[in-house]
Amino acid sequence: MKSNRWDDHYTEKARREKWLARSVYKLQEIDRKFRLIHKGDRVLDLGCFPGSWSQYAIGKVGKQGDVVGIDLHTPEAFSPPNFRCIKGDVETIEVAWLAKEIQARNVALSDLAPPTTGVRATDVARSMSLAEKAARIAKAVLKNRGHFVCKIFEGEELKPFKSDISPFFKQIRLFRPKATRKRSREVYLVGTGFISKP
Ligand SMILES: C[S@@+](CC[C@H](N)C(=O)[O-])C[C@H]1O[C@@H](n2cnc3c(N)ncnc32)[C@H](O)[C@@H]1O
Repeated sequence: MKSNRWDDHYTEKARREKWLARSVYKLQEIDRKFRLIHKGDRVLDLGCFPGSWSQYAIGKVGKQGDVVGIDLHTPEAFSPPNFRCIKGDVETIEVAWLAKEIQARNVALSDLAPPTTGVRATDVARSMSLAEKAARIAKAVLKNRGHFVCKIFEGEELKPFKSDISPFFKQIRLFRPKATRKRSREVYLVGTGFISKP
């Protein structure tokens, strides 16, 4: 499908500003609105390849913080000392092992997305499965009062997913950043103020 002028604007801007992907502008807008990532924070970035969200998060946390990314692919173009990528599949990763391995996190981000097939029901179901796994991981690794951002393709399961996760956060919002492609059905769930024992 041909991209529109708005898509081109973000792609060009990312290239000019040396970000690894245009999707950085989605996280930037979410972070500016909800004030999620701070200096010294420890961040988890699920679905981190090619690396623009981790790149942005590293810039925000500074030298005192760190970012752990997980993806099927390793961002080769990005290797600051306080970034670690675990190459793996979130569908099969052992959550208890992960929580011990990376220790507690202030922020858990998930931009996980399945390869799209064009079949709506399949794409929505796969995205929901990734979102559910991301939520399980977030609950296992977040510090009390931590924050969670999770990409989801809009579908019937979105409302029940939001309801299930609501008790674990002080506030839950659905947000569609301007940099999201017009034809995309993605939306971001933003949970702030994690409550470890609701
Ligand atoms: C939209 S991209 C993320 C872009 C990234 N936030 C950035 O700004 O560079 C989605 C990522 O999810 C990853 N992914 C999809 N399914 C996965 C799975 N089961 N386990 C780990 N990563 C997965 C893909 O490999 C892909 O790199």
